[in-house]
Amino acid sequence: MVNQRRPDGSLRHLITLDGLARPELEKLLQRAQGYVCLPGSQPRMNQRLAGITIGNLFTEPSTRTRVSFELAGRRLGAEVVNLEVQLSSQMKGETMLDTIRTLESLHFDMFVIRDSQAGVVAHVADNVAAHVSVLSAGEAHVSHPTQGLLDALTVLQHKGERFDRLTLAVVGDIRHSRVARSAYEAFTGLGIGELRLIAPEGLMPQPGEFPRGVRFSTPEDGLQGCDIVMMLRIQKERMQAAAIPDGGDYFQHFGLDRRRLQLAKPDAIVMHPQPMNRGIEIDDEVADGRQSVIRDQVRNGVAVRMAVLEQVARPRPLRA
Ligand code: CP
Repeated sequence: MVNQRRPDGSLRHLITLDGLARPELEKLLQRAQGYVCLPGSQPRMNQRLAGITIGNLFTEPSTRTRVSFELAGRRLGAEVVNLEVQLSSQMKGETMLDTIRTLESLHFDMFVIRDSQAGVVAHVADNVAAHVSVLSAGEAHVSHPTQGLLDALTVLQHKGERFDRLTLAVVGDIRHSRVARSAYEAFTGLGIGELRLIAPEGLMPQPGEFPRGVRFSTPEDGLQGCDIVMMLRIQKERMQAAAIPDGGDYFQHFGLDRRRLQLAKPDAIVMHPQPMNRGIEIDDEVADGRQSVIRDQVRNGVAVRMAVLEQVARPRPLRA
């Protein structure tokens, strides 16, 4: 496991939420809450990252994570460069590490990386200069730490601090989901009362993973009385074609519609990290309905990423 801390114990990288103690998670959420910007209001901005250059390197598609990391950096006064990896010299065979070393020579101080291969983000973190920080923006099926934090912040806003009184149901393709893994780390770290995993057998995590999760093979069993329903997209890009479920059949057995949502508590909230496949894992009525907090999740993404960037940053001496 990557060491994401400095010798003084402070967080230098954020590759995983595993190992973050509850007070540390709570502090990040508190800091993020201070940056939450309600619709129609002017975002909070400062210069705490002035003089810092951040590189966004995404080798997998992204809308929310990439845009919100960019906004977060800019709102803290950093210079942010989005490297178009598909147009970069990686297409000519350059390794990720050689790209990173090139950008280090150009005085980059932080890298935000999304990559489809497990271990790449940690490998970069192990090889950057001592003053450089590396943040995961989603690593294969393994980890999406800022998503875990923004999900926790969304629950905090809607359900309050007593996570121990809450039951979270995670529904869908858990096996291939980095969102589910980081949600597990965030919510178990914050002391969630009960965490249920609802998936067809082929999409359940491997035995031994999610040790605190209680497994259910149908939404009819698993959604009863829960407070939070977190729906997941089928990660087709991580499956063999033959293993991809038929969309109509999947919706019939695992899709969230109004009838299934009624099994949860009347005030249950519905979450989805997006992108959504409407009509496959969730229908329009629920996705856009009064119990949906999906747009709040997106809004919280900028606030959480501001908190994380601020947390890992260290003041830089003026360059000669
Ligand atoms: N939730 C999430 O990671 O969305 P993007 O893939 O659009 O960044």
